[in-house]
Amino acid sequence: MKGIILAGGSGTRLYPITIAVSKQLLPVYDKPMIYYPLSVLMLAGIKDILFITTPNDQEAFKKLLGDGTHLGCNFEYSVQEEPNGLAEAFIIGEKFIGNEKVALALGDNIFHGNGLVNLLRSKTDVSGASIFAYPVKDPQRYGVVEFDKDKKVKSIEEKPSSPKSKYAVPGLYFYDNNVVEYAKKVTPSDRGEKEISSINQMYLQNDALEVGVMTRGMSWFDTGTVESLDDATEFIRVLQNRQSTMIGCIEEVAYLSKFIDKGSLAKLYKQYGKSKYGEYLKEMGETILQ
Ligand code: TTP
Repeated sequence: MKGIILAGGSGTRLYPITIAVSKQLLPVYDKPMIYYPLSVLMLAGIKDILFITTPNDQEAFKKLLGDGTHLGCNFEYSVQEEPNGLAEAFIIGEKFIGNEKVALALGDNIFHGNGLVNLLRSKTDVSGASIFAYPVKDPQRYGVVEFDKDKKVKSIEEKPSSPKSKYAVPGLYFYDNNVVEYAKKVTPSDRGEKEISSINQMYLQNDALEVGVMTRGMSWFDTGTVESLDDATEFIRVLQNRQSTMIGCIEEVAYLSKFIDKGSLAKLYKQYGKSKYGEYLKEMGETILQ
């Protein structure tokens, strides 16, 4: 399975912070935001990952993440000229996807919780589409899933003014190869974007949409507003300091996913200077080499 991380957009809800800097490069506590969705795709076992950015930001992402070989991965980069919507990812990524299945992660979404790795790995052989639903207080900000009394999906609506349920669709989607053709059929919505919900509706019409409800044990943050960015930072800070383990440490994930061996991991701290992140990696390297 291939992976795409969508890290373009305009980030207007975070202005003035994101006027000159990509939202997905902002810190969430001690690391750039993009580390979190990247680690999620890597935890799913995905090594081939395409980063879609704005034309202006591409160089900065390349400087940060390189070609991925140090993590046992293959990273590629494409640009989205204008923020025309999430569904465009599959058109921009058509060549990269080839005949494979594909997972899409939004660059500003963070997931953490019990059972996440098994959940992710169970999705990589998807036929049709597999997405999630997560209960939130403000569903009108998201794609909203409505279930019938037998828990079957009844409808999906993008940012409805009167949501039919409290279940939002988080920014992590798994699709079979049909997604490329479906994406080409999407027409822009009233707000001028090619919506991912339109793709999900096509799968629903073909009876090929699976929606898994994320339960209490899972945390999901969409860091698009100042408040939610601040909440995510606080969450990561508290959890990491309490448990003395890191969330979203891409080198650790590369090792745990068996993309790199002990020897390679033990060298990777060097690029992180005197930071706590570097110290964490150094200590881990020393421990596993003993
Ligand atoms: P959004 O938060 O919906 O949009 P945005 O980042 O442009 O922010 P704002 O609403 O504050 O102006 O985007 C969700 C994620 O998808 C985010 O990581 C940016 C990315 N994205 C793209 O890469 N291309 C797009 O066309 C859109 C709409 C979003």
